[in-house]
Amino acid sequence: MFILSIESSCDESAIALVEAKGDLSKPIFKIHENRIASQINIHREFGGVVPNIAKREHEINLPILLKEVSKNKLSKKIDLISVTSGPGLEPALWSGIEFAKKLSKEIDIPLVGANHLKGHLWSFLLSNPKSLNKFFPAIALVVSGGHTLLIKMDDLAHYKKIGETQDDAAGEALDKAARLLNLPYPGGPEIERVALTGNKNFIDFPRPMLHQKNYNFSFSGLKTSLLYHLKNAHKADWKDFNSGRNPIHLSPEVLKDTAASFQAAVVDSLVTKTLRATKDYQANSIVISGGVAANLSLRNELIKICKENKLYFSAPEGIYNTDNAAMIAVSTYIDYLRNKKTPLKANGNLNL
Ligand code: KG4
Ligand code: ZN
Repeated sequence: MFILSIESSCDESAIALVEAKGDLSKPIFKIHENRIASQINIHREFGGVVPNIAKREHEINLPILLKEVSKNKLSKKIDLISVTSGPGLEPALWSGIEFAKKLSKEIDIPLVGANHLKGHLWSFLLSNPKSLNKFFPAIALVVSGGHTLLIKMDDLAHYKKIGETQDDAAGEALDKAARLLNLPYPGGPEIERVALTGNKNFIDFPRPMLHQKNYNFSFSGLKTSLLYHLKNAHKADWKDFNSGRNPIHLSPEVLKDTAASFQAAVVDSLVTKTLRATKDYQANSIVISGGVAANLSLRNELIKICKENKLYFSAPEGIYNTDNAAMIAVSTYIDYLRNKKTPLKANGNLNL
């Protein structure tokens, strides 16, 4: 099956052409095209994604991406078009859905909705793991700017959410911390870059909910803790922190140690609860996905505990962690095999 997939849920406009075959025991994906137009530079000056600007930019970018994809490949038979219905920013979702509807009419190919979260959940399949069975039961950590979820997967068709963040997502916490440290948006990769040579024991940030016997997370207190730390350590005034910006100039040393300490607290919380879930559910593997899964500190820590605990580990490669359309084709194909449908209607809060 050739799937032309479209993603526009946040600040990446993306179109992919993916060939999918096989059944739920061994689905195989071949990416023929994977185009992404990032809007990061446009949103950066606002310190975050502005929904209506995202919508406008998707409307500009999607036709350009389609032209690039269709230059050589649209002659190949497309069996299905799919577009992200949610979750995400509704104005951004509308633009993708409208674009997909028009295209579907023009080229007379059926169109279906797709779930962005399932795209992240199953995106490890894009690297076509040799034997899938050995991974199950698996504990999946979906960790992005909008979500932090722990999911128990019995196989590709059967899964259950076992925990999630009670407030901010891990990526959101990193983005907010970066803002407080006067680092540009998106903050996750910036914190990672700055933290690389920092001392993670510089500040002892809290690890909220770590000792509670559940698989939930909480990251908003961590951000508040950073705010208090900056205020107290530098004798600043609350009003100076207007719109989340730090008025204090930190030396490069203090900046990297602060970033390393903050990142370590986030990684620690994620790793501890994920490992506990694998033990409680007697899982054979940990699979991770979502923008924060691109973080090498998190990945390396998880790889280490997987080795220590004889668990398999899988994660998408590089650009397939952050938002992309290839994972939307995966979500579409697996749901097609499961006989599940996602309504073709923008739903900002669509669940797994
Ligand atoms: O999956 P994604 O592209 O979009 C959502 O569905 O939210 O994730 C974006 C999030 C942002 O919060 C960004 O700061 C974070 O992923 N992120 C990272 C890294 N790359 C992206 N966080 C930590 N380390 C990274 N290398
Ligand atoms: Zn995402």
